[in-house]
Amino acid sequence: MNYSHHNPVMFNESIEGLNIKTDGIYVDATFGRGGHTSGILNSIGISGRVIAIDRDIEAVEYAKKHIKDDRFEIFHSAFDNITDILDKLSLIGKVDGVLMDLGVSSPQLDNSDRGFSFNKDGPLDMRMDRTRGVSAAEWLSSASEAEIADVIYMFGEEKKSRKIANAIKRHQKDSDIKTTAQLANIISRIVGGHQKKHPATRSFQAIRIFINQELTQLTDTLEQMLNLLAQGGRISLISFHSIEDRIVKRFIQKHSKQKSLPKGLPVMDSKLERAPLISIGKYFATKSELDDNVRSRSAILRVAEKC
Ligand SMILES: C[S@@+](CC[C@H](N)C(=O)[O-])C[C@H]1O[C@@H](n2cnc3c(N)ncnc32)[C@H](O)[C@@H]1O
Repeated sequence: MNYSHHNPVMFNESIEGLNIKTDGIYVDATFGRGGHTSGILNSIGISGRVIAIDRDIEAVEYAKKHIKDDRFEIFHSAFDNITDILDKLSLIGKVDGVLMDLGVSSPQLDNSDRGFSFNKDGPLDMRMDRTRGVSAAEWLSSASEAEIADVIYMFGEEKKSRKIANAIKRHQKDSDIKTTAQLANIISRIVGGHQKKHPATRSFQAIRIFINQELTQLTDTLEQMLNLLAQGGRISLISFHSIEDRIVKRFIQKHSKQKSLPKGLPVMDSKLERAPLISIGKYFATKSELDDNVRSRSAILRVAEKC
């Protein structure tokens, strides 16, 4: 089992964003290796609680082995099941904060067996939850050229998506693509190597997002938030690319907009329908964190509060 370390991004800012109450109930929807969970546990008192979720069984096993704390429990699940999980605990509408630190953890990236990294050769898997779904290799062999191109374009914003998809399909006429190195080589030959980033960065990101249905997961989970949070409850959400951040931004904007009033009609203050959410802020990593932790470079933290 690979229990390598994960250095949490924007740790202080995201924990402060939760505005922690000592007896509060908090959800860490992306446990990883528990960096943020530990921060919350250190900030709450003896009657506070942390409910953690991760769809990766290795993260859950890590938690069970390393976090011995009566205030903590963890569930092996995708976070879009958050309502069911909290319902079973009778915590709907009682949650004081939800933290989400999206994307993959360092142990997932560092373990070549997981197939997330173009830098480490391994089976082309990319599933965060290996107990279900299809691997990237299986998907690439069954998807059409047009489907592959669309995924790489939509989720990776890769301009050469059509050429990459064509190269993948041409390669598959001779042999399957089974490893990360095979895929990275095919992509690199098309994209070329004149940029700061590895030429396969955008395509790998896109395939990973698709295989794990990351954007659907995020959208569906955000829509459940208003129902789960107590009044004054916060969401503290770290995203790592513009497509994800756009979803978070639009969700906060949509629910923090005051409904427009009928023109010219007097409305009593008590009758005003208030927006259910208020945006607290948008934050980036500090200079010193940017120097220390490469993953923080693309991180955007957004915090919002339920009114
Ligand atoms: C960036 S890491 C979180 C690291 C964590 N904050 C820490 O300090 O160790 C993201 C974690 O969230 C999990 N994850 C991502 N998407 C998920 C989803 N839709 N449902 C549940 N877990 C998810 C991944 O398996 C991974 O372990």
